[in-house]
Amino acid sequence: MSDLRVLSVASEIYPLIKTGGLADVAGALPLALAKEGVEMRSLVPGYPAVIKALQKPSVVHTYGHIFGGAAKVLAGTAAGLELFVLDAPHLFDRAGNPYSGPDGRDWQDNAFRFAALARAAADIGLGAVAAFVPDVVHAHDWQAGLAPAYLHYADGPRPGTVITVHNLAFQGQFPPHLLGQIGLPARAYAVDGVEYYNTIGYLKAGLQLADRVTTVSPTYAVEIRGADAGMGLDGLLRQRAGVLSGILNGIDTDVWNPATDAALPASFDVAKISGRAKSKALLQERFGLEVNPNALVFGVVSRLSQQKGLDLLLATLPTLLGEGCQLALLGAGDKGLEYGFHHATATNPGRIGTYFGYDETVAHLIQAGSDAILVPSRFEPCGLTQLCALRYGAIPVVARVGGLADTVIDMNEMAFSSGVGTGVQFAPPTVEMLDAAIRRTAALWRDQTVWKGMQRRAMKTDVSWTNPARQYAKLYRDLIGAQG
Ligand code: ADP
Ligand code: GLC
Repeated sequence: MSDLRVLSVASEIYPLIKTGGLADVAGALPLALAKEGVEMRSLVPGYPAVIKALQKPSVVHTYGHIFGGAAKVLAGTAAGLELFVLDAPHLFDRAGNPYSGPDGRDWQDNAFRFAALARAAADIGLGAVAAFVPDVVHAHDWQAGLAPAYLHYADGPRPGTVITVHNLAFQGQFPPHLLGQIGLPARAYAVDGVEYYNTIGYLKAGLQLADRVTTVSPTYAVEIRGADAGMGLDGLLRQRAGVLSGILNGIDTDVWNPATDAALPASFDVAKISGRAKSKALLQERFGLEVNPNALVFGVVSRLSQQKGLDLLLATLPTLLGEGCQLALLGAGDKGLEYGFHHATATNPGRIGTYFGYDETVAHLIQAGSDAILVPSRFEPCGLTQLCALRYGAIPVVARVGGLADTVIDMNEMAFSSGVGTGVQFAPPTVEMLDAAIRRTAALWRDQTVWKGMQRRAMKTDVSWTNPARQYAKLYRDLIGAQG
């Protein structure tokens, strides 16, 4: 029985539409929260993929005119998710990804697209859909950042508001003259409102005006109060430290389960890790690597961007190859990085294999077939690939930042003697330190007894949503309690 209703608002949701980990979180959290007595429904934009997947849609609210056209809020289900969908064809019925067109450029009207999403969230929060009046509206990232703002400036009783920051690098800033057009009152354009360095800041608005602010790991929650990771918002986050907390992400352990994973040639689990061998051989074959069980295979599954530090990996390839290791990389994004890895692949046949693009099946095979997964991020709010790696027995080799610091136990001397290490950490994220981490990982690999112990501990790590969901449920209940 649920005693609490929460509306989650996000611009992506797995498995319907995904560009990164935000979608995974938005897709998994409702199911995990159901076990905690929280009824969560998710409001997402009516992109073509979402409209197509929606089953038994019913119209639960209409707008004669919202930022340039008519729109409806549809209620329905898709892939086991209870959804509200903002069906606004003038804003969302187009090809491309959620934020940019096929030419890669941001949509010109993103200010309106995501103001509309937030407006609909606020309206549902204020009771527009009688069958689901939430106690809490939970907004994710800048795309939903105005939801707490609309609710803050509304008259009368309103639900509690929470915003979760998944990545402070994306802030959603738009020109101030849009204020009236997006339906915010003149008084909102102030330092304690939505104003942010002479723009309207959508993320800033949420961070300023939500009742509670969370981010996706305890370490990132601390880091973002400092100038480096704070990216211009650290002052505000220091001011709001009393309502700011970090709750680690989990992963969907049904989607990521090596014992049942249809993407793998053979299943395995912690009691039978030897089953990984077939995945390794298949991975080596698919990526054009020499099929050799003794070579340490490093895997990468990542967006190719400055955040992920893969330029550091490019610079470290001579060390990786010098240690006799192999690399299988799946990624898409920055064209310069794609070129760099393409060139490295062409000049090191059988040692480096790359696949540029987005492919879930290949991601699963890399997690199952690699011996180690590299995550050399410059910053990482949480990171999900190292969690998948732990579950699949691929040793995470990670920069000691954000959620990577919180989820991997470095196999240092102390961890070695007390038998607790689950991976390798390095800091700071530089070429020299990554270089040393790769050498250290290769040394650990040479002692297979040590390696297997590490692998067993990695696979036993709890990476599920159970604990995080409990923490979110408590946060919502405390908030409602505090509001009386
Ligand atoms: P971020 O959200 O910053 O990209 P996360 O580690 O939180 O980083 O989440 C990334 C998610 O996207 C993971 O589920 C990962 O498996 C997936 N992913 C990233 N790149 C690819 C790719 N090229 N193909 C398939 N899945 C990918
Ligand atoms: C962001 C972050 C990533 C996090 C994900 C889900 O994309 O870059 O670290 O895991 O959101 O919270």
